[in-house]
Amino acid sequence: MSQTFAQISDPHLSSLEGVRVRDLLNKRALGYLSWRRKRRFEHRTEVLQALQRDLQQFSLDQLLVTGDLTHIGLPLEFEQGRAWLQQLGEPGQIALVPGNHDTCVAADWDKTFGLWQDYMASDAESVDAAGHAATFPSLRVRGDIAFIGVSTGRPKPPLMATGTAGASQLSRLPALLEDATTKGLFRVVYLHHSPLPGVEKWRKRLTDAAAVQAVLCEHGAELILHGHGHRAHYNELRTRDGVAPVIAVPSASALGLHGADVARYNCYNVERNDSGWQLDIMPRCYQPATGEFAPGESRTVLLTRRV
Ligand SMILES: [Fe+2]
Ligand SMILES: [Fe+2]
Repeated sequence: MSQTFAQISDPHLSSLEGVRVRDLLNKRALGYLSWRRKRRFEHRTEVLQALQRDLQQFSLDQLLVTGDLTHIGLPLEFEQGRAWLQQLGEPGQIALVPGNHDTCVAADWDKTFGLWQDYMASDAESVDAAGHAATFPSLRVRGDIAFIGVSTGRPKPPLMATGTAGASQLSRLPALLEDATTKGLFRVVYLHHSPLPGVEKWRKRLTDAAAVQAVLCEHGAELILHGHGHRAHYNELRTRDGVAPVIAVPSASALGLHGADVARYNCYNVERNDSGWQLDIMPRCYQPATGEFAPGESRTVLLTRRV
C-alpha cells in the first residue's frame, strides 16, 4: 500500500500593510523595509490560492510546512498564519516547523507560536518546562511513515538568517530515529534550514549543521526535507542505513522576481517493496502564464533498507 504526503515551505503569506516602522524593533524594522521594497511583490496571495486549489486533487497523509509563514514574526502575522493554516486543513493533517522569519525576535508565546501550537504538536504531546505544548523534535506517525520535525528557528542578530537546532533537540533526536526504524517505519525528517554544512550562505546557515548531520548519519533517516533558500535542490546524505535524499523546495508563493525559483511544492509517494522503499518525488510547479500549478519532472528513488 502506498502513502502520499507533500511539503510546502516559505509561504511568507502575511501582509504588513498598516504597520508603522517606528513601532518596530531594530531587526523587525529592517525586515519591514525589505518587505516594503521587495518581498510583497515576490510572495503573492494569488499563488497561494492556486496552490490550495492544486492540493485538493491529492489525498495526503500529511502536509508538511517547513517554516517562514511570516516576514518579521509580528503577532498580527501569526494571526494571519493561523487563518491560512485553518483554510489548508485540520491540525492533525498539517505538520509545521518554524522558520527564521517566524522567530525574528523573542516574542510572547501566547500571541505568536501559541496560535500555531496544535499544528506543531506531536501525536502524543508533552508540555515543556515553559508550559508550551509543542516540543521539538515533534513526532507524528501515519501508517508506515514517521514524520519527525526539528525546529531551527531562533532569534538572531540583525541581518542574520541563521538557524540552530540546539543541544536539547540533538539529544532527543537519536531515540526518535532509532525507535521509528525499530518499528519498520519510513523516517521523514523535516526542518527549515539545510542540515548539510556548506550548502547555504554563511549568514543563512544552520549553525550546528555538522552536529545535525552527524546524528542523521549515525542513526539514519530515509528522507530529509527543508526550505529556507527559496530554491530547489536535490542532495544525498550517506547514513548508516543507506543513502537518504535531502530535498529543498522553493517558496510556495514566489513569482521568482529576484533570482529565487518560481513557486513550487513537492508531493511524495512512498511504497514498501522487497528490499526497502520506493520513493516517488513529484514536483508541482507554478505557471505564471496560467496562474495554476502543473507537474514538474518527477523522479523515483529506490531506498534499500538495512537488515
Ligand atoms: Fe523564507
Ligand atoms: Fe528562512
